Amino acid sequence: QQLQSRRLRQPIVVVLGHVDHGKTTLLDKIRGTAVVKKEPGEMTQEVGASFVPTSVIEKIAEPLKKTFPIKLEIPGLLFIDTPGHELFSNLRRRGGSVADIAILVVDIVEGFQKQTYESLEILRSRKVPFLVAANKIDRIPGWKPIDTYSLLESIKSQRKDVQTQLDNYVYRLVGQLAELGFNADRFDRIRDFTKTVAIVPVSAKTGEGIAELLALLAGLTQNYMKTKLRFAEGPAKGVILEVKELQGLGYTIDVIIYDGILKKNDTIIIGGLNGPIVTKVRSILVPKPLQDIKVVKTDLTQIDEVYAAAGVKIYAPELENALAGSPLFVAENEQQVEEYKKII
Ligand code: GTP
Ligand code: MG
Repeated sequence: QQLQSRRLRQPIVVVLGHVDHGKTTLLDKIRGTAVVKKEPGEMTQEVGASFVPTSVIEKIAEPLKKTFPIKLEIPGLLFIDTPGHELFSNLRRRGGSVADIAILVVDIVEGFQKQTYESLEILRSRKVPFLVAANKIDRIPGWKPIDTYSLLESIKSQRKDVQTQLDNYVYRLVGQLAELGFNADRFDRIRDFTKTVAIVPVSAKTGEGIAELLALLAGLTQNYMKTKLRFAEGPAKGVILEVKELQGLGYTIDVIIYDGILKKNDTIIIGGLNGPIVTKVRSILVPKPLQDIKVVKTDLTQIDEVYAAAGVKIYAPELENALAGSPLFVAENEQQVEEYKKII
């Protein structure tokens, strides 16, 4: 119990950015799975959640062992994938609302686009710290992909003019961020990460740069968010990402639990089309590590309780009118039920 309360929970990392700039591909590369290929038209149309354990982060960050050693205290990262298409502004907002930290994915060749700006406004309004993943560096003319997850290792093998070209692209992003009032620089030139937004050039296709990206995510969350990430013992709090009918089961909700513990038979209060819904959790279903809750249909495991942070599917009566985007509270008595109903 004491250990539990001292440990850190997984930081919730939301991935935002313009359509087709490579958000899902980046997560696929990290997870070693292929969600993009399973999406209709290969376009993300709902918010997903997947857990990446420390062992995977350590493996990917392995090439940095000597230059940029990092001791992991977090149990892993919980990634939230969002759609970049302009129609899905509400889904981006939903993802942004639970984030501890964000990755803004920008196609390095295309630079800032409409939903890049919109994503930044979501992050700014919610005061979510973020990194910029300057993606698709393999498309820079002359880039020679190297078999490594480390950007700095790969850069050493690139021609001088290609290195300069990479820098020019990075400077363009620095300029675009400056116009919006953000101080930014390439991550390896930053002294104070509390004042400067880090830009990490990556290729979601080849993997180059993902070592530094994950090391930075882990380092920044561990160093600057300890208090926020300290695990809390109390009843769960969450946000509904999606409401879905599951064949043979009925209506379910995909929820990000960002605080506390959710147990089977807990009384939950959520927002509904016709006002607050009070119901009882019948089952809690979780995907395997590295699997995305939005894609997994049959491969879910039933569990009796779940600790924040986690992406779970909840089955309970009366979920057909549940509202995606709504908060979820657990009430421990009648008085709390009434309080949470008012809040909702
Ligand atoms: P939405 O979810 O629809 O907003 O798109 P997304 O940002 O998730 O983009 P997605 O990962 O689906 O990638 C879009 C296209 O870009 C796919 O064809 C990817 O294969 C390609 N792509 C993504 N990352 C890279 C990269 O680093 N290099 C190259 N060359 N192609 C990439
Ligand atoms: Mg996508």
